[in-house]
Amino acid sequence: MAKKILVLEGDGVGKEVIKSAIKILEFIQKKLKLKIELEYDYIGGECIDRFGVAIKEETIKKAKKYGIVLLGAVGGYKWEKSKVKPEEGLLKLRKEMGVYANIRPIHSFFNRNIDIVFVRELTGGIYFGKPRKRWIKNNRTFVIDTLKYSDKEIERVVRVAFEIARNRKKFLVSVDKANVLESSRLWREIVNKISEEYKDVKVEHHLVDSFAMNLILKPEYFDVVVTENLFGDILTDEAAVLVGSLGLLPSASLAFKKEKVIGLYEPIHGSAPDIAGKNIANPIGAILSVALMFKYSLKRDDIYELIYQAVQKTLEKGYKTFDLDKNNYLQTDKFTDKIIENMNVN
Ligand code: IPM
Ligand code: MN
Repeated sequence: MAKKILVLEGDGVGKEVIKSAIKILEFIQKKLKLKIELEYDYIGGECIDRFGVAIKEETIKKAKKYGIVLLGAVGGYKWEKSKVKPEEGLLKLRKEMGVYANIRPIHSFFNRNIDIVFVRELTGGIYFGKPRKRWIKNNRTFVIDTLKYSDKEIERVVRVAFEIARNRKKFLVSVDKANVLESSRLWREIVNKISEEYKDVKVEHHLVDSFAMNLILKPEYFDVVVTENLFGDILTDEAAVLVGSLGLLPSASLAFKKEKVIGLYEPIHGSAPDIAGKNIANPIGAILSVALMFKYSLKRDDIYELIYQAVQKTLEKGYKTFDLDKNNYLQTDKFTDKIIENMNVN
């Protein structure tokens, strides 16, 4: 039976980079005679324009049913003042799919010895805690956001990080703010508890402020890093600039259910409305997200390698995208064709 994949291009450059990613996917599919079926749907701003919501219930149902989603990006200037926000669609999709472990590999293609895998908690913490509201009292405006975690939510993502660390350099850094936050204190306790099961993995706890500094000073030092939702959001953007551009980076958001892996695959960059529609977006983050999809959801490490090698080779030959070199670059579609040319598939 054919594997079904739900494709949500979203807004802005999301559409362009997903077209590139699908071109790669279809090329591989044809060459290797894979049975994959794509189904397209809407998310984000365009979905709001068409249907009044940032994601439809039926789309969420399909995402859960197929268990594999490839997503571009959401948002744009047009919806800044809109009551329903494009981002709500993405957050709802993540929550409903239950994809709690967000894997963000930060790998340098340009001779820097940087190769970090971030594991970001994705369905809890301050992004989702209640209450979240705004109110006025005695002429003052008050707001509240809630940072809430359960032990179970922390345990399951920390376990994913230990597993990844075990299969790499056996070195895990956990980032928190345990000198201030109660949630971080529990986080630390749980990391220590689970480390008993992974005695082969060395663990270090870093406070988020000093980690942010050390990430810039000595990125080579880190291998696998696990952290909560908001810290992970900020730190992975920071890490991205170390390797050249946000446009290079993919992500996999996963849930492990018995034997099954549920996956939402998306580049970590946004919809970049300033460059949307110009055919200059970097498609690598989206293309490598397809690579991660093959690795985690389709259990095809060989195809994951194939895609990574092709990207590596294309960059090594000196081809660049606009974000990497404004004076000497290929447009999105041409660059995608170069990756295909450099793919060693028979
Ligand atoms: C990301 C994005 C999202 C997040 C936004 C668009 C809601 O910044 O995937 O990192 O904050 O998680
Ligand atoms: Mn982000």
